[in-house]
Amino acid sequence: MRLLVAGGAGFIGSNYVRRRLAEHPGDAVVVLDKLTYAGRRENLAGLDELRWELIEADIADREAARAVVEGCDAVVNFAAESHVDRSIEEPGEFITTDVYGTYVLLEAARDAGIRHLQVSTDEVYGDLELGSATEESPLNPSSPYSASKAGGDLLVSAFARTYSAEALIIRASNNYGPRQYPEKLIPLCILNALAGDPLPVYGDGMQVRNWLYVEDCCAAIDTVLERGEPGQAYNVGGPDELPNIEVVRRILALSDRDESLIEYVTDRPGHDRRYSLSAARLEALGWRAAVHFDEGIERTVAWYRDNEWWWEPIRSGEYREYYERQYGKALK
Ligand code: NAD
Ligand code: TYD
Repeated sequence: MRLLVAGGAGFIGSNYVRRRLAEHPGDAVVVLDKLTYAGRRENLAGLDELRWELIEADIADREAARAVVEGCDAVVNFAAESHVDRSIEEPGEFITTDVYGTYVLLEAARDAGIRHLQVSTDEVYGDLELGSATEESPLNPSSPYSASKAGGDLLVSAFARTYSAEALIIRASNNYGPRQYPEKLIPLCILNALAGDPLPVYGDGMQVRNWLYVEDCCAAIDTVLERGEPGQAYNVGGPDELPNIEVVRRILALSDRDESLIEYVTDRPGHDRRYSLSAARLEALGWRAAVHFDEGIERTVAWYRDNEWWWEPIRSGEYREYYERQYGKALK
């Protein structure tokens, strides 16, 4: 198969490209990526150049999208603006990429008659005090990020129903693992712990997330790409739900740091309290999460400790300005 992976230079996308090439020796991959701050060629370093190529373009560019889709057998769309805090600061790009860009890519895939798998998030269901969201739960997004992802999802469902497009959705819970940009909780805290910088905890730190190791998410995507039903959504829930403060404590312990580095900071506006997913529909297709948080977080801390070449240019570049704006203080 010749697979188009939009957003394949980002965190989950690049882990997916790696897995796809390793597990499907006959496949070729075309990565379509705008290379925003979160998309990096480094994420695809070391892969066999003969089996993949990078087209640097915007998914919202109709001509580029059509040209790249041609000759491909399926599309997996990871391309998105993905960080809630940035969406609060500046929502415009989120709507352009996550809604309009999704539409452009969907249309190109529909016209080519190929499958479009949209990678979405548990955040579209909003926060849940109790219980777990199923695919039939109402969409109730809270942030500009989750609202724009919900907009993309609704277009996917509409294309499947109206045009019988072979379009389908996965909604994953919070991913973590190698190559995640250090604006997200886990890599940010790992790098701050390694450097001896404070670990910023929003509000009371009791917000709950359903942690999913990135390789499990990638395996779920392959399952749905191969066996999912057009028009359906599939939740991909991680095996463990933990409050943020517990995640931060585990990172400190694995980094040989004490809890004096924890710093409670002003909460995020509109902050979702708890996400939780039921993955029963996907499990019926044979998928199971294999990596529990204890093991996944150990592997993740070890990866960041061993791959300074990957994160050092980020921590010494424009990220420092982002960090100062977001947290009101400089990194060491
Ligand atoms: P990321 O921010 O690390 O990567 C996004 C990628 O998309 C980058 O390579 C970026 O350059 C590219 N991109 C952005 N705008 C683009 C555009 N207009 N055209 C082409 N490429 C563009 O994100 P991630 O964490 O890897 O998330 C990937 C997808 O999975 C997103 O759609 C996100 O909403 C979804 N998701 C993420 C998580 C998570 O915990 N990280 C959980 C559930 C779902
Ligand atoms: P994040 O990684 O941004 O993912 P999301 O908001 O998409 O769930 O945040 C995970 C949780 O950690 C969320 O409840 C917000 C919180 N958080 C902090 O407490 N401190 C931080 O510095 C960051 C980035 C997040």
